Amino acid sequence: MASGSGSNFEAIAAAIRSGELNASIELVIYNNPKAKVAERAARLGIPAQLMDHRTFDSREALDTAIAAQFKTHKVNWIIMAGWMRRVTQTLLSAFPRRILNIHPSLLPSFPGIHSVEQALNAGVKITGCSVHFVELIVDSGPIVMQAAVPILPDDSVESLQARIQMQEHIIFPRAIALAASQTASATANEISS
Ligand code: GAR
Repeated sequence: MASGSGSNFEAIAAAIRSGELNASIELVIYNNPKAKVAERAARLGIPAQLMDHRTFDSREALDTAIAAQFKTHKVNWIIMAGWMRRVTQTLLSAFPRRILNIHPSLLPSFPGIHSVEQALNAGVKITGCSVHFVELIVDSGPIVMQAAVPILPDDSVESLQARIQMQEHIIFPRAIALAASQTASATANEISS
């Protein structure tokens, strides 16, 4: 799921192509008609579907439709790669502990929006990015992987964001593999006990 440029989507697709991540992307859902992710998906031959939140009556209605699409495509994991909408219990219940998000800060610091700017304004010397399981409270679920990014004295929001994104592209495929393998072994333990 993506709302914008889709650089993380493309990094995940590249990790799959190179064999680093054993997965397949069945469907990209995006909510903004102008999102560049649609062009990236077309170039890579991956199905992408616009689900414009403005055409739904409620967050639940959007999430019901998203869950139905993913079920139709037999999706096991949902990856929120720059999805800028709050999700509801409807989507969480359809995919329990199967939704990952990437966030441009070292959570629990600087949740919400403008996280790169928040870190710059706070004067911290290190920020970064986090991949975490999605829960109802925004940017709150268990953390799977993080990368630290030092803040340089002459950093702007743009320069810092660019360095954070470089780290996002490295950790996101690794975090997906880690979360999937941990979930698989937890499930195997449950079955054998
Ligand atoms: C990423 O930097 C991601 O951390 C951020 O949106 C960007 C999407 O970039 N996500 C959030 O802020 C979520 N709260 P991309 O479209 O190029 O992958």
